[in-house]
Amino acid sequence: MATASTELPNPSRLSVRQLTKSFPGVRALSGVDLDVRAGEVVAVIGENGAGKSTLMKILAGVQTQDEGEILWDGHPVWFANTRQAMKQGLGLIHQELNLCDNLNVAENLFLGNYPGRGGWINFWSMYRRARQSLEKVGLKVSPRLPLSALSLGQQQMVEIAKALSIDAKVLIFDEPTSSLSNAEAEALFRLIEELKSRGVAIVYISHRLAEIMRLADRVFVLRDGQNAGMLQRAEITHDRMVQLMIGRDVSKYYVRRSNVVGDEVLRVEDLRTNAWPQHSIRFQVRRGELVGIAGLVGAGRSELLRTIFGIDRAVSGNVVVSGESLKRHSPQLAMEAGLGFVPEDRKKEGLILESTIVRNVGLAGLLRNAHWGGWLNRGKEIADTRQAMNDMRIKTPSPWQLVKYLSGGNQQKVVMGKWLALSPQVLLMDEPTRGVDIGAKQEIYQLMEGLAAEGRGVLFASSELEEIIGIADRVLVMHEGRLAGEVSGDQITEQAIMQLAIGGSL
Ligand SMILES: Nc1ncnc2c1ncn2[C@@H]1O[C@H](COP(=O)(O)OP(=O)(O)OP(=O)(O)O)[C@@H](O)[C@H]1O
Ligand SMILES: [Mg+2]
Repeated sequence: MATASTELPNPSRLSVRQLTKSFPGVRALSGVDLDVRAGEVVAVIGENGAGKSTLMKILAGVQTQDEGEILWDGHPVWFANTRQAMKQGLGLIHQELNLCDNLNVAENLFLGNYPGRGGWINFWSMYRRARQSLEKVGLKVSPRLPLSALSLGQQQMVEIAKALSIDAKVLIFDEPTSSLSNAEAEALFRLIEELKSRGVAIVYISHRLAEIMRLADRVFVLRDGQNAGMLQRAEITHDRMVQLMIGRDVSKYYVRRSNVVGDEVLRVEDLRTNAWPQHSIRFQVRRGELVGIAGLVGAGRSELLRTIFGIDRAVSGNVVVSGESLKRHSPQLAMEAGLGFVPEDRKKEGLILESTIVRNVGLAGLLRNAHWGGWLNRGKEIADTRQAMNDMRIKTPSPWQLVKYLSGGNQQKVVMGKWLALSPQVLLMDEPTRGVDIGAKQEIYQLMEGLAAEGRGVLFASSELEEIIGIADRVLVMHEGRLAGEVSGDQITEQAIMQLAIGGSL
């Protein structure tokens, strides 16, 4: 522990002692201690795979520990399932969304807990309460909308609203901001501060250290499933946290070398997306270039990338890769032409969760690894996978591990590895570093840079301005479905990007 504990007036609301949990081949937690008091925000940080989510799932009754105990107001408790935990007043906002796509917003909010009596659902009351819950988190959508109509960030807010619908005494947030816009995140921070002032005990997990500095009263650091230290409010600094997490210094920002920019490798001509058919979009990306797409949430960045890759239907327009125009808009043709795509929602589009890492990395490489006889080169597939696991430091016992058992950040690395194995001419990336730890972030930036240095193009959307400013050669800024402007070189400043993003001009 970093400091001697000072006696504080209020005792722990929730504490764990010597918690241990193993999975086949992995010791996820060993002898972990943690405690949180009423009216306190405790942050838990650590690299991808350090054991954060596992610890939270055990607290919330989703999983069971092998050893160790959990105390509630000093008394041992054990939750057999999340329902029991919620009854006691403990809510968990999952890292990976836990909602049903085919239900509407209100149904998701009250799933398993519908207002009503004797098996009848009182719809009037359900929608009224749903509106109140949504209002609490500042989400302005109709509770009757199907969940699938919401952006990832909005879905995240529904998940939060759901956790708040209980009379919570302890709330656990597992990377709540990874898919939120700045404004949504800001609303969440205010909400957390309000909950804190009402005496709720809060456990907060994030890879964004600036958030931790803003919110946390204390920070617990996990490393390889063990306590690596605890920081009191006054000791919380960026460098101190990084050091405890990974035991080495990592610079805060990535500073790019600039590459020789070559010929055009991607051209988008008069593209009209289904979401914003009134705007025609045109731009190009050259070899050796890292082009960022900035914009507020809902500005149409994801739609643009998805339409270029052929997942979403284009209303009209042309995509030209290395001088050849795609005949149709389809992911298959896009891949054959040399495009790769790292999607925003890895769970839905990036990965086959029920399959192994080898299969997942191999999938995108299918084209490349198939012999002319049509046989798959298994050896190559496994070599590619090992390479990816090595490059990206994917933490897991073997390439045959099922992807669903990887930690969130490690799953993101598998998606990256899958596309790097294909070495596309142009890699399209939507939020490439979502949920990855600070060390792996730098590695992903280096891999992007490596692609550019090999004369390939990279086009990436990100809501982290820092990231865009740090690594892009050129930034396309979107506003309500159109390209509002472009900045490059020294012009790339937060001010210029924001100005364009809100619809202004430079
Ligand atoms: N159900 C499971 N089966 C096998 N291994 C698992 C399972 N759940 C988690 N693990 C492993 O336990 C370790 C800890 O995972 P955990 O999800 O707790 O990490 P984390 O700290 O939340 O990481 P991240 O920052 O990437 O979300 C990882 O090595 C992970 O692969
Ligand atoms: Mg996690």
